[in-house]
Amino acid sequence: MTIFTTQTGVDLTVAAHWLRAGECVAMPTETVYGLAANALDPAAVVKIFEVKNRPSFDPLIVHVPDMAAATRYAASFPAPLRALAERYWPGPLTLLLPKRAVIPDLVTSGLPRVALRAPAHPMAQALLRALPFPLAAPSANPFGYISPTTARHVYDQLQGKIPYILDGGPCHIGIESTIIGFEDGRTTVYRMGGLALEEIESVAGPVQLALNQSSNPAAPGMLKSHYAPQKLMILGDIEENLLRYSQKKIGVLACRGFRDLPAGVLQIVLSPSGDLAEAAQNLFAALRTLDQSEVDVILAETCPEEGLGRAVNDRLRRAAV
Ligand code: TXA
Ligand code: MG
Repeated sequence: MTIFTTQTGVDLTVAAHWLRAGECVAMPTETVYGLAANALDPAAVVKIFEVKNRPSFDPLIVHVPDMAAATRYAASFPAPLRALAERYWPGPLTLLLPKRAVIPDLVTSGLPRVALRAPAHPMAQALLRALPFPLAAPSANPFGYISPTTARHVYDQLQGKIPYILDGGPCHIGIESTIIGFEDGRTTVYRMGGLALEEIESVAGPVQLALNQSSNPAAPGMLKSHYAPQKLMILGDIEENLLRYSQKKIGVLACRGFRDLPAGVLQIVLSPSGDLAEAAQNLFAALRTLDQSEVDVILAETCPEEGLGRAVNDRLRRAAV
């Protein structure tokens, strides 16, 4: 693998230059930072797998500026998915659609569908519009680790492996896109994410959930152990677990409301007021802070199972033992 002096900046022409040269660049999106490369060039896409240390059976999302571009890569659009795209693109929505031959098999790991998303972040939009090709981009973290929501997070882990990080500030949604397909005549959600179930059903009607395939998964982001910190993380009743782990150095990850805790316990509250969008926005940075702190064990609790709380809880469950 080539060794680079990684630069961070806001220069779209530099990012576009590297991408045209077949290299990987980190780009901001409204959900998490992506590790982007030319989706139509297998030699460029291979580098994404190398940089991330990602197994090649885990397919990549292809980013496009809009619906018009999506129709160049999807052979057809089932009506409910078209309605979702028309309502929520650009935004935190990824659609699994029958792929056209122009998309390399490497991008979809040989699967018949391609994952397409039009991101809303203005820098991602500008970059996609400046390029003559779409961008394959997984989250810009080493495989299995917590997704990055700032340019600094990307730098800390991929420094030296990529030439450029486009810095678009902190991601305002903070959690990956919701992944949706159409299976057996029904709209199917494969990954909870930045677009809430309520918003999906208001457009597409009732959906079926397929969130937990573990063998040959349709969306390996749904593997049980994912988004995981290196520290031991326990999900459950915090008061009970404080007693159980009282001999350890404890970090607490609460959804809402500060607690009176013994001195020395590091406490992070995702949203003091209980705003679930704010909780999603803060989740990955909080996990990183706790993972890099002195604590031995992270005690976490779930958020209410509604709105973006579902996606937050999904990530917490996959991060916990
Ligand atoms: O918000 C997001 O979706 C971010 C930003 C960068 O767009 N991307 C992201 O990518 O989260 P990644 O690779 O970390 O997660 C994408 C998930 C993976 O679990 C992958 O298995 C699934 O989407 N996926 C991608 N293409 C697929 C396909 N053709 N069929 C089934 N699953 C697919
Ligand atoms: Mg990921």
